[in-house]
Amino acid sequence: MINSDFPQKAIRAIRYVFYKDLSVSEQYYLKDLLDDKLILLFWRMNKEDRAHSFEVFKRMKEITNDKEMYELALLHDIGKAYIDIGWLGRIFADLGIYRSNTTKMYKNHEKLGIDILKKEMGGVETNRTIENYMNNLIEKRHDLIERCDY
Ligand SMILES: [Fe+2]
Repeated sequence: MINSDFPQKAIRAIRYVFYKDLSVSEQYYLKDLLDDKLILLFWRMNKEDRAHSFEVFKRMKEITNDKEMYELALLHDIGKAYIDIGWLGRIFADLGIYRSNTTKMYKNHEKLGIDILKKEMGGVETNRTIENYMNNLIEKRHDLIERCDY
């Protein structure tokens, strides 16, 4: 069954194919927003996810001064960093018209992101970044994320 937000997801899927990597000045910006470990993690994502995440951050910057939200905007799709799905698989997963283990993982990428964060930050159980991710993405997607992540 195809879900009701099909048109919006279709547009997102098409846009995905055209994403370019961050410009040098955008890359420069990151160092004020993420610490070294998180920057490395950010670069584990593919270029499309990096560009999308930076776009979410730019929208966030328009509406808040909250640095935690900036960090979350940049990291909210970090769970996709280790899922090898390809652009066609993403479209199928987003549109809900195909089911495989990889599409299921993809659908579950926000939860996978917690393990990635913990592992990449040296096996910590929790810290400010993880708490932010848990409270404002996993337990309930923060309103600002809802507004900026499209
Ligand atoms: Fe996103």
